[in-house]
Amino acid sequence: MFDTATTEKFHSLKTPFYYYDLELLKRTLDEVKTHGIDKGYHVHYAIKANYNFEILELIKQAGLGIDCVSGPEIFRSLEAGFKGSEIAFAGVGKTDEEIQVGLDSDIFSFNCESLQELEVLNELAEKANKTASVSIRLNPNVEAKTHKYITTGLNENKFGITIDKLPQLFEMVPDLASIKLTGIHFHIGSQITELQPFIDLCEKVELVQHKFEQAGFSLQHVNVGGGYGINYETPDKEPIPDFKSFFEVFDKHLNLRDGQQLHFELGRSIVGQCGSLISRVLYIKEGINTNFAVLDAGMTELIRPALYQAAHRVDPLTSRKPEKTYDVVGPICESSDSFRKGIQLPELKRGDLVAIRSAGAYGEVMSSGFNLRERVKAYYSDRL
Ligand code: LLP
Repeated sequence: MFDTATTEKFHSLKTPFYYYDLELLKRTLDEVKTHGIDKGYHVHYAIKANYNFEILELIKQAGLGIDCVSGPEIFRSLEAGFKGSEIAFAGVGKTDEEIQVGLDSDIFSFNCESLQELEVLNELAEKANKTASVSIRLNPNVEAKTHKYITTGLNENKFGITIDKLPQLFEMVPDLASIKLTGIHFHIGSQITELQPFIDLCEKVELVQHKFEQAGFSLQHVNVGGGYGINYETPDKEPIPDFKSFFEVFDKHLNLRDGQQLHFELGRSIVGQCGSLISRVLYIKEGINTNFAVLDAGMTELIRPALYQAAHRVDPLTSRKPEKTYDVVGPICESSDSFRKGIQLPELKRGDLVAIRSAGAYGEVMSSGFNLRERVKAYYSDRL
């Protein structure tokens, strides 16, 4: 997991902190490049997963674009050196100001999520004397087989335009002179570990493409979003997701039209495994059926367990015997502030360090100042 020198260094640092293995990130990006970008696919990194500049730099060097869901994310991407023409901008609630930022930056595409948004975008683009490039985000009603809070492609979800609204859309579009309809966009959910939902998505894309063609529209690109999952249980067995199989699904099952580009928006699968939250054991407390290991990190640093019942692997950086049963919890005044319940770990003592693994995506970015806690630092393998 970590070499001795790294673990020794960890001991001298104030905990908790995030640690990023940039070598692993580079190797992950190499796989994305080999199986995705080199095959002619366009991969936008979902910056919401982690927006640290050190990480963005490597992603930029690997030739990925960016997927944003807010104005500040667009600014951050530009600051990191990405071009407007590499940015896709999704989100059900884009404000007028955010749309303006997108227009000013001449972004690759506004992924529009409602008919009303299309009208507003058209108005703002007209005022700005621009033509906005638009991709219609459609809700394909595909079951992603993941946690309900990170499922986005079902009719009951707020995202995208449902397929039954297409006739209305086809009628509207010719009157919207300041937008150019260039593509269609889908994103069915996150942490999807089976390939079947992506195969189902391909079927829906075909159906939708057909409807656009029948209505006389041709599409320059198809954007199938992100959502590919990672192995939280045993990250060392699968530090890099199987991108070959992922991209092959689309190669096999998607019927792209001549000259049509295929775009992806991957977040977690790129940065998830390279990050760990390093924390110190503050107290050990005997409970009735378990022992509580109280850490100095909590839901303020990593909210995923509290919010999605996510089980991140907790690896002690010591190896004592015998193993004992622990509830690994944080210091925050909430019962949901718990990382793991009833797991077997080498005996822990006050002052021990633990690594909470697979925290590179939706970890640091979702941290909060609850209980007036300070934002923690990030360290990187190349300059520890
Ligand atoms: N594209 C769109 C439009 C999205 O909404 C998302 C994620 C992505 C791409 C990237 O998805 P990924 O490849 O990372 O699965 N905070 C939750 C995840 C929320 C994902 C939101 N949208 C978590 O910690 O599991």
